[in-house]
Amino acid sequence: MPNTLDSSYYETSIYKKGIFDGKVVFVTGGAGTICRVQVEALVLLGANAAILGRRTEATEKAAAEIQQLRPGAKVIGIGGVDVRDVKSLASAVDTTVKQLGKIDFVIAGAAGNFLSHVGGLSARAFKTVIDIDLLGSYNTAKATFDQLRANKGHILFVSATLHYIGLPMQAHASAAKAGVDSLMRTLAVELGPLGIQSNAIAPGPIAGTEGIDRLLPEHLAKRAVELVPLQRLGTTTDIANATVFLLSPAASYVTGTVTVVDGASWQLGEPS
Ligand code: HXC
Repeated sequence: MPNTLDSSYYETSIYKKGIFDGKVVFVTGGAGTICRVQVEALVLLGANAAILGRRTEATEKAAAEIQQLRPGAKVIGIGGVDVRDVKSLASAVDTTVKQLGKIDFVIAGAAGNFLSHVGGLSARAFKTVIDIDLLGSYNTAKATFDQLRANKGHILFVSATLHYIGLPMQAHASAAKAGVDSLMRTLAVELGPLGIQSNAIAPGPIAGTEGIDRLLPEHLAKRAVELVPLQRLGTTTDIANATVFLLSPAASYVTGTVTVVDGASWQLGEPS
């Protein structure tokens, strides 16, 4: 299956097998490409996981497939969860704690996006993306707070680079992701004294993701590789590796930051 990891990851990556033994990760958007590979890496390196999504069948199927990656891994899929509804998230937290014991890491990755000029964007359309990306991230932090506090946990937001410039057709998502970065920084400061870390990862043009396949305007897609200073698209393994670093003890003093994984592409003013 393209864009997913297998057991060769812990044989070939610089990370040690077992570094996440005993850890539990709670992930919104875990059936999507980016979040899925984040979970796969953590599970391969020892963690158990709960992945949440609106679509029950897709979420449960992804969970079952990820669980196969490591003998003994426990991965549960919780469908019917909309991050716009904090109660559905709270219920998913209860289910996770009952089935997996606790939550150490939270990945707030659920997102919605489409391309639209402001002229074609209704107020409801703008609000929909703000609600999924920004309010959904807040709701995820809110619902998992007790677990983060109890376990001196780490919340990792999946952000973007859209808002670093004025990007056409992305007013809604850019505003939402700017808010996500701001929320992440506030949480780092407010929750730091409790031993909780808060960071974000900002993927750039990653091959095989919706950001490239559906959301990159055609004129940019054709020139994507030459527009990236590192002269290649990113891979899902690039995202997995950065995620593992951030959640590992190697990053125990890293909080309040955005890790941009984009080959420096946004700095040319053409982010994915
Ligand atoms: C203009 C649009 C539109 C479009 C929807 N709307 N698509 N407006 N152009 N292409 C409007 C609708 O007309 C409606 O407004 C409002 O948005 C809400 O639409 P619904 O379909 O009712 O919302 P909902 O069912 O909640 O769906 C949310 C969604 C959808 C965001 C619109 O695309 C979705 O669920 N996506 C989830 C998957 C996804 O997008 N993943 C991408 C993540 S990648 P009116 O006024 O008509 O009622 C990502 C990477 C970012 O985020 C960086 C990459 C560049």
